[in-house]
Amino acid sequence: MLAALMPSFPGAPPHISVTFPPKPTFRASLHTAFILAKISSGGVGGRQPPACRRIPRAWPLALRGIPDYSPPMTHHERLLIIDFGSQVTQLIARRLRELNVYCEIHPFNKVTDAFLAEFAPKAVILSGGPASVFADGAPMPPATLWGLGVPVLGICYGQQVMMHCLGGHVERGHGTAEFGRAYVAPTLSKTALLDGWFLTDREQVWMSHGDHVSKIAPGFGVYGTSPNAPFAIIADLARNFYAVQFHPEVHHTPNGAKFYENFIRIAGFTGDWTMGAYREDAIAKIRAQVGDKRVICGLSGGVDSSVAAVLIHEAIGDQLTCVFVDHGLLRLNEATEVVKMFTENYKIPLIHADESEVFLGRLDGVSDPETKRKIIGGLFIDVFQKYANQIEGAEFLAQGTLYPDVIESVSFSGGPSVTIKSHHNVGGLPEKMGLKLVEPLRELFKDEVRALGRELGLPPSFIGRHPFPGPGLAIRCPGEITIEKLEILKKADAVFIDQIRKHGLYDDIWQAFVAILPVRTVGVMGDARTYDFACALRAVTSVDGMTADYYPFTHDFLGETATRIINEVQGINRVTYDITSKPPGTIEWE
Ligand code: XMP
Repeated sequence: MLAALMPSFPGAPPHISVTFPPKPTFRASLHTAFILAKISSGGVGGRQPPACRRIPRAWPLALRGIPDYSPPMTHHERLLIIDFGSQVTQLIARRLRELNVYCEIHPFNKVTDAFLAEFAPKAVILSGGPASVFADGAPMPPATLWGLGVPVLGICYGQQVMMHCLGGHVERGHGTAEFGRAYVAPTLSKTALLDGWFLTDREQVWMSHGDHVSKIAPGFGVYGTSPNAPFAIIADLARNFYAVQFHPEVHHTPNGAKFYENFIRIAGFTGDWTMGAYREDAIAKIRAQVGDKRVICGLSGGVDSSVAAVLIHEAIGDQLTCVFVDHGLLRLNEATEVVKMFTENYKIPLIHADESEVFLGRLDGVSDPETKRKIIGGLFIDVFQKYANQIEGAEFLAQGTLYPDVIESVSFSGGPSVTIKSHHNVGGLPEKMGLKLVEPLRELFKDEVRALGRELGLPPSFIGRHPFPGPGLAIRCPGEITIEKLEILKKADAVFIDQIRKHGLYDDIWQAFVAILPVRTVGVMGDARTYDFACALRAVTSVDGMTADYYPFTHDFLGETATRIINEVQGINRVTYDITSKPPGTIEWE
């Protein structure tokens, strides 16, 4: 359920505690892989293995989510992305979904012959990755892929794999490694893959490769070259195999969307992945799964749990009961708004569990951030269970798990990572209570959940909300939590958000909030001395919450906001703006 309370945290799987591995840059991981490859093959120019083979256990996998492949909804046309560990594989999926093509990402070592047969893709994309085809046990697709008779597109490492498997040749860098912006020029040959490309005599692309293709496989022709990648775009038109050295999915390949559009057109996709279709499929699937049993759903008021609840309610009506646990650490008027929205607009049976006294009581005198998080997480499970037990016949627990939580990523770093913050979650709850999971959003990315929310008619104010952490204001109140501080914090936060909305900045910002600092400072107001709390404004831009940058407000905006907070919120006499990025900071203060 707290997966639903982690609406904006794709890296946070619902069933394991969240850790923050040092995120290697794409370039760094390629470099590492290159060094590894060098060592394992006895140096530059080592021989590659003769045939494609399945990778042994040597490459560690970081399982980030619910492990097993579960049958998807009834999508008529499906594209398979085989992940070789690129940092940007998810972007391929994003580009395709934007084109109304349903696709799934699966790690290379899960894609067996049987998997391919069951998945029955209409086309396959081989992602990039940090490995080298020269490495011992280099990641490879199953050999049956080449005989499926469907279009295949290889990207970067995917291109090298394709050449390696089909009789071409890949070489070590030898000074031809390319990282960053590059320009590809057309050759005289033509392919539909490049329709609308090369409007000028060269096209900007983003490269990130150490090795490169030095000889193309029989049947392939060259359609684009760059100074360091003579085989930047190659294709075997008879077999519909295409491969590029660059990354069309990234922002720095400006015409990349067109490239994917051409590929899926060649593959014959009709673009049947729409939110309307998803909604119908999801409803049918929920009905089939749940039958006449009851479902409970934890509601946080965040977009994921809200959309999940409304969707499930549309499918099974009053068989769904939502539990909204109010821990007393919500924003100003939040509890009232959430309850009103669900009971008035949707008539969804809702238990409003006001347990603020219990939570605040247990947090009294606690100042250590991890202790706070653990207390809240533990209590949340107890409280949720207490209310869930009152719902007779509940057999299912609904969660707002998103697709990024489910994708198994290919990790080349391995080893345990450091726990920066323990996100509280109720991962153990389904087993503890003997409940089965209903996860209707597990095929969706965050913005698709928002689109589904719009399709379901949720108010825009709910759909576009900034993420809010499960432990709530507790982690925005460094030091001891008191009722007084919480009241001040709620009011200051409301003024800050109001300012952001008034200036039309809300949707440009990933997350904005106020933290109340555990320090009082001296001020002067109306000739009188004040000794009140200081607060910090925090506003960041981010794509996934994993990294973030502070939002560049104007001085005028900051000045106006500080004045409003000090004038309107009794108890604060000093306002600061937090300009720390993540890393080295984190978004929340605790
Ligand atoms: P940090 O502070 O780790 O936050 O940079 C990254 C994102 O995660 C949210 N966050 C949480 N969400 N439970 C949640 O549901 C938590 O325990 C939690 N801690 C942080 C945070 O608001 C930001 O969006």
